[in-house]
Amino acid sequence: MSHTYNFDTCPERTGFGSLKWDKYKGRDILPLWVADMDFVTAPEILEALQHRLDHGVFGYTIPHEAPIEAVINYLDRQHSYSAKAAWLNFLPGLVPAINLCCHAFTEPGNSVMTATPVYPPFISAPDYAERELIKVPLCLDSQDRWTLDIAAMEAAIQTHTKIFVLCSPHNPVGRVFSKEELTALADFCERHDLILISDEIHCDLVFDAEAKHTLTATLSEQIANRTVTLMAPSKTYNLPGLACAFSVIENTKLRAQFQKTIRGIITEVNCFGYAGITAAYDHGEPWRQALLTYLRNNYHLIYDFIRREIPEITFRPMESTYLAWLDVSKLGIKDPVRHFEKHGVGLTDGTPFDGHQHLRLNFGCPHSRLEEGLEKIRAAVLS
Ligand SMILES: Cc1ncc(COP(=O)(O)O)c(C=O)c1O
Repeated sequence: MSHTYNFDTCPERTGFGSLKWDKYKGRDILPLWVADMDFVTAPEILEALQHRLDHGVFGYTIPHEAPIEAVINYLDRQHSYSAKAAWLNFLPGLVPAINLCCHAFTEPGNSVMTATPVYPPFISAPDYAERELIKVPLCLDSQDRWTLDIAAMEAAIQTHTKIFVLCSPHNPVGRVFSKEELTALADFCERHDLILISDEIHCDLVFDAEAKHTLTATLSEQIANRTVTLMAPSKTYNLPGLACAFSVIENTKLRAQFQKTIRGIITEVNCFGYAGITAAYDHGEPWRQALLTYLRNNYHLIYDFIRREIPEITFRPMESTYLAWLDVSKLGIKDPVRHFEKHGVGLTDGTPFDGHQHLRLNFGCPHSRLEEGLEKIRAAVLS
């Protein structure tokens, strides 16, 4: 069946308990914050969910053939990774998985390392597990791109550091790390006997034609043996409310440790989550391609607008995600989030990412909405 996809108009979301929209309910503030797009998901996914709904029986659902095959085929087709069914665990979210990894793979007295700025649960998870967190800032390479600072990581590592938590592609800076950068990280993990928790939830949102995502576990057998890969279709297909994610753990011992930790704590994925993931991976590719074209145009719109109209904001080129990381430190505003809200635009505060004086703008929305948001940002800067 062929469909034309419409990203220009989106349904009203207030009244549906939307985290993104209800934050500003009754206030004239355009929400361009939290990582949830305004687009209706792929029609192929809607059809599958409707079909599941029409069945009418919503009993306990186990990981069954359709989602397992969909994930395995997707990993092979899209990321050249031949995974086995036994390596998978379906999960209701990656945030709980990151937290559980801190419990499963560390003991009191151990530490966890990550590169900042980063998605806030990477920072809070070790704290919740009462483990020390070692934060190593990303650095700029010779091409002015954010990269992992391996030298600084070497300087900061401790004997009791057990895991490195990686965000690849990176939220919030939007980098797609090259094979060389990932290999340097893999070597670092080998040298220090670290388990690599690799959150690759944004891997299908690479809109830059030159960039190619490499699944960390495909780099070598050695790194695969110490990697916990965390993935989900939720960012790409705008399904976070369906709560369906998965982990891939090749190493039997690590997998057993993880499974023991999640036992009785993590809920089963529900029947709609399974229907959603299956349809996304089996039939969602044409929609994803159309989405990437739309996001690429939105990205260029922001990039050109900021360069031309608000050069005081530093916005480095990015290759993936629909999240733009804006350095507003040159504006001299004490509370940037409040300031922009006062001018009618809601952006994510960079502080919990360890990005003081930074804001994150979600451009997973219609062009017209983005243009309106950019105008409000300009007015806020000029005020
Ligand atoms: C890097 C990263 N991991 C995980 C998540 C959320 O995962 P989940 O909704 O499956 O808990 C997000 C959401 O923005 C994210 O950016």
